[in-house]
Amino acid sequence: MKVDGEGFEVMGEEKSRDCAVEVINVWSGPRSLSTSLMYSFAQRDDTEVLDEPLYAHYLRLKPNVCHPSQQEVLDQMENDGNKVVREIIHGPCKKKYRYAKHMAKQRTPCLTKEVLRGRHVLLIRNPLEFLPSFDKVLQEEIPELEMVHLASLYMELRSMHQIPPIIDATDLRRDPEGMLRSLCSAIDIPFQSSMLSWKAGPRPEDGVWAPWWYSSVHKSTEFVSPPPFANKPFPKRLYKLLEQNQPFYDFLKREAILPIPAPAAPPPLPCLDNKELFVWVNGQILPRNSAKVSVFDSIVQGGDGVWEGLRIYKGKVFKLEEHLDRLFDSAKAMAFANIPSREEVKRAVFATLIANDMRDNAHVRLTLTRGEKTTSGMSPAFNVYGCTLIVLSEWKPPVYNNTDGIRLITASTRRNSPNSLDSKIHHNNLINNILAKVEGNIADAGDALMLDCGGFVAETNATNIFMVKKGRVLTPHADYCLPGITRATVIDLARREGFPMEERRISLTEFHTADEVWTTGTMGELTPVTEIDGRQIGDGKVGPVTKYLQAAYSKLAESEGEIIPFR
Ligand SMILES: Cc1ncc(COP(=O)(O)O)c(C=O)c1O
Repeated sequence: MKVDGEGFEVMGEEKSRDCAVEVINVWSGPRSLSTSLMYSFAQRDDTEVLDEPLYAHYLRLKPNVCHPSQQEVLDQMENDGNKVVREIIHGPCKKKYRYAKHMAKQRTPCLTKEVLRGRHVLLIRNPLEFLPSFDKVLQEEIPELEMVHLASLYMELRSMHQIPPIIDATDLRRDPEGMLRSLCSAIDIPFQSSMLSWKAGPRPEDGVWAPWWYSSVHKSTEFVSPPPFANKPFPKRLYKLLEQNQPFYDFLKREAILPIPAPAAPPPLPCLDNKELFVWVNGQILPRNSAKVSVFDSIVQGGDGVWEGLRIYKGKVFKLEEHLDRLFDSAKAMAFANIPSREEVKRAVFATLIANDMRDNAHVRLTLTRGEKTTSGMSPAFNVYGCTLIVLSEWKPPVYNNTDGIRLITASTRRNSPNSLDSKIHHNNLINNILAKVEGNIADAGDALMLDCGGFVAETNATNIFMVKKGRVLTPHADYCLPGITRATVIDLARREGFPMEERRISLTEFHTADEVWTTGTMGELTPVTEIDGRQIGDGKVGPVTKYLQAAYSKLAESEGEIIPFR
């Protein structure tokens, strides 16, 4: 026999080609879920399992112990442990992996170091939990110091820089999927969900001793949760053995692996077509799941960014220049430095739309942040890298019910005042609008109306607002609301179509008693409002002015806009 530097037996070239199998040795004591774990691995499509191949070897060396089925084991299994390791455990295999279940005590000193070849896992169980099951058995069947065998195997593998993962049987029962995922990851094999259950009854891989030992495991079909506490006192005659095993268990338990939670099922997307998107992040077009900004980015640190929403109609970006004007004004008001040029932003918008083949029915969320910081902190002095530009374009069918209208409630959250944060800056610090939206959601309303600090109507949490009373179209001054681009377009359209149009302070009562109300925004266009705070607006139906302006807006949006340079 040839032996290499580490004491492993070296095989001939012919043989080693046969033995390409990757061996996973799992060492444990009895009553530790070892058979269940073997059944679990037997469910994999890439793994063959062996049930205690070193059992006969162990029995041959321990003539004084008396195990049920002892003679059958000795007669039917290979007795020479080194031969078992060489020819059975590492022998040819039809599957990629071979899982070998072992009792730790079966690793007797006369085995060569080849028994340490392959991957190793230690399966442990608190002696306080497993020793009571030996209360009724004969003295000689009581397990030896299993935990000591496992601890010494652990130390030996460690000294060879092969630290084996340790899995606790109780953890496995508490969270089978999490622990099996963790175990598979630790031994570098993919997790398979088939490992979570098996059919009841005897299995072809069972050892010949199965009729004596496996009656309860044969009834099982999966790992079951452990009982909350033992329902019998701990047997006094095993107390000494417990004391001897416990420190070794405690030592191994400290090193045991923790569960890896199953990845959550992805939540359903409002629009399935957005599953595969390309997003522009700072000069790069990236797939949806890779499109990320640094945790040092100002947008993460303080919502320190400005943004625009653009809509795409028939191969064109509607009101692109107006949106870019507001974006650059907002960035200037926020004193951003190193702002990309107008041409660069346009190029990024077009490149992203073209990559996604978006010509219609799409919306772009364009975000410009103050950029990445050198350290977390508020000061723009830490922003030395320049702005971050994000172009997120998505398929966006109408977001509101523009045919039948929506209900609004008035939020208790007030719209920002120019005293604190001027609504003329289209910034990403949207908390006051989000709080209003939370109120709207709780009331199951389409959106929430927000008042200014004087109690007059400002806008909704996401849109500007208009009303009609006796043929006059009214909308609040843009003192507390965003000077919306759709708002400006609708004001122009109303004037052009000859409706008397007025911007002024409007109270909530005026809205409650309006003949017609609608909201405006790039994303949702013109959305009729049929109820506010339980008051029906007009006759509760979409009014004629609303319908007229909706149609005029659609016509304009479909005819104007900057052409996306598709080839
Ligand atoms: C609070 C708020 N009001 C109104 C609007 C509508 O503005 P625009 O018509 O420019 O899309 C928006 C859209 O960004 C908004 O966030």
